Amino acid sequence: MIAIDVHLDADAAAAMARDVRAGLSASPKELSPKYFYDERGSQLFEQITELDEYYPTRAEREILSERSGEILAAAGIPGTLVELGSGSASKTRHLLSAMRDAGCLRTYVPVDISEEITHETARVLVDEYPGLIVRGLVCDFENDLERIHSDGSARLIAFLGGTIGNLYPGERREFLTRIAALFGPGDHLLLGTDLVKDAARLEAAYDDAAGVTAEFNKNVLQVLNRELTADFDLDAFEHVARYDAREERMDIRLRSLAEQTVQLADLDLSVQFAAGEEMRTEISTKFTRERLECVYAEVGLELRGWFTDTAGDYALSLARIA
Ligand code: AVJ
Repeated sequence: MIAIDVHLDADAAAAMARDVRAGLSASPKELSPKYFYDERGSQLFEQITELDEYYPTRAEREILSERSGEILAAAGIPGTLVELGSGSASKTRHLLSAMRDAGCLRTYVPVDISEEITHETARVLVDEYPGLIVRGLVCDFENDLERIHSDGSARLIAFLGGTIGNLYPGERREFLTRIAALFGPGDHLLLGTDLVKDAARLEAAYDDAAGVTAEFNKNVLQVLNRELTADFDLDAFEHVARYDAREERMDIRLRSLAEQTVQLADLDLSVQFAAGEEMRTEISTKFTRERLECVYAEVGLELRGWFTDTAGDYALSLARIA
């Protein structure tokens, strides 16, 4: 059975326009990482996940492929898997298969911004898992979490990939508070987080030798050129990726190589960049177990399980209402 609810923001374009105007008018300038992922950006991210330097995707896959059974047992054998940012659900299959093997699999709730991918994934999964109920939700999960379906069985809400690292502490607290508000007593969060490590390895992961991450970062300017009729010259900016050890996060920026003025016709806005001026395009926060325990405690959750890859580079943690 497949049922997919669509709740797309009718005014996504207006929201983007407001957001970009605010970011480019601020000092220092900043753009949201959510604009990276047009078709080209998503392709480039796929390429990033295959780079030697970029370990998080492989590490997360290792944990899921080897420890999904353990994770499910620790989560109390849930009947429903909710996945925030499900995409093509490639890593999710490990969890779904473990649920099937444990005899508890009932419902899969993919939550994603792309309607097409969600439909396609649902079709493929009901074939692969006979009897599976798919209750998809197409929305911006930062806004519409409250629409997530519940059939009364215990839920495991998975937010994989380390995307939580893109949020600032205040945003992260707000997001987790809203997830915690959805939780019944048997529900668990399964959260993917990259871990604090040597700065050199982190910086290499975000500034690869082949230049794929640099291209991914600059692609956001192409997105603005297309969506807002802007005239960013991609060659006039360079990629910067530094580890901020105090904040325990990667700080990813675009640096203007010269003094320049950029026009954004749709915003009726003209923006000046000084030579050497940096504009932040993303943060990617790195965690420790202790830090995550505090993050959970602040929002009324408690850490109940901790699963890392063999190298100890990346963690999936399990949390529930304290
Ligand atoms: C998809 C947000 C988890 O922060 O590692 C990869 C995005 N940016 N290389 C990350 C990203 C540059 C990625 N997340």
